[in-house]
Amino acid sequence: MTDFMPLDGWDHVEMWVGNAKQAAFFYEQAFGFTQTAYAGPETGVRDRASYVLEQGEIRFVVTSAMREDHEIAHHSTRHGDGVRDIALAVPDATDAYRQAVQRGARGVIEPHTVEDEFGRVELSAIGTYGDTIHSFVNRKGYEGPYLPGYKSVSPNGPTNAGVGLLAVDHCVGNVELGRMDHWVEFYERVMGFTEMLHFSDEAISTEYSALMSKVMSDGQGKIKFPINEPAEGKRKSQIEEYLEFYGGPGVQHVAMTTSNIVETVEALKERGIGFLETPETYYEDVGDRVGEIDESWDDLRRLRILADRDDDGYLLQIFTKTAQDRPTLFFEVIERHGARGFGDGNFKALFEAIEREQALRGNL
Ligand code: FE2
Repeated sequence: MTDFMPLDGWDHVEMWVGNAKQAAFFYEQAFGFTQTAYAGPETGVRDRASYVLEQGEIRFVVTSAMREDHEIAHHSTRHGDGVRDIALAVPDATDAYRQAVQRGARGVIEPHTVEDEFGRVELSAIGTYGDTIHSFVNRKGYEGPYLPGYKSVSPNGPTNAGVGLLAVDHCVGNVELGRMDHWVEFYERVMGFTEMLHFSDEAISTEYSALMSKVMSDGQGKIKFPINEPAEGKRKSQIEEYLEFYGGPGVQHVAMTTSNIVETVEALKERGIGFLETPETYYEDVGDRVGEIDESWDDLRRLRILADRDDDGYLLQIFTKTAQDRPTLFFEVIERHGARGFGDGNFKALFEAIEREQALRGNL
């Protein structure tokens, strides 16, 4: 069977925010990104300001509206700061759009080409859960900074050396109760993805809340989209809390890889990023559960990094606190040593940690 939706990888993740200038400063100063391009009134774009931030292969774009009556302003009123677009690099953005729409996807941006003196970029977009979209980007014919309409930004002062974040590993979506299988089927039908793993709600439950999660992946395993839905618990689950505060389905977290999680987390902590607390008791038996690793358990315990093992190897991971006032989007740092999973052995520990935060906000 031929792959009807060939993907070259992640292109960028765009967040629509209330104040892109300040969000850009946060991702630069706290997460170690370097601002590489800008579009706004100064570059002839009248209705919005966008900042492009890069680290390793990761490209974030933060955008806000210049005026009240604008879809970006409406989005940020409804959802708070959040991910609008998980954009994918494709060899042919027209064909990707046609294939997806033919299979039932909602077209959001019709295929078109944007050009300037640096070349041309072909763009299109389809809708996914909530107000989230997937842009298809073919930038093979383009040598400029990001996209036509953007000007490149030369770093002020010393270049940001970053914190060692390398690439996007996966982007997780939260959807409503009973809707997970709909979106699993969507990614199968519309993009030819397959289900990687399945966690039952027993696997991911605590005393108070639970969730169901399925992971969809493209044929080459480059693009991974876990999809969560809430499951019955004694109290409001963290997925329900997300859905309530985001005003519907959306991206819960973006995971980014590092090749040295100890150094990366140390650097992020120095820069002021807050991570979820993990109980001391977690470290009493993690060594028995995970077995031998290259890193020092003392470092992992000190930094509250989680560890897990599957059939293919082990992984180390940690989760930031939410990145805005609403308890919605957060980030994960992950270092894989062969393991292809998502740390399901850690889910219980993670959820207990998240629920302690939720209780502090009075939402449990
Ligand atoms: Fe994750």
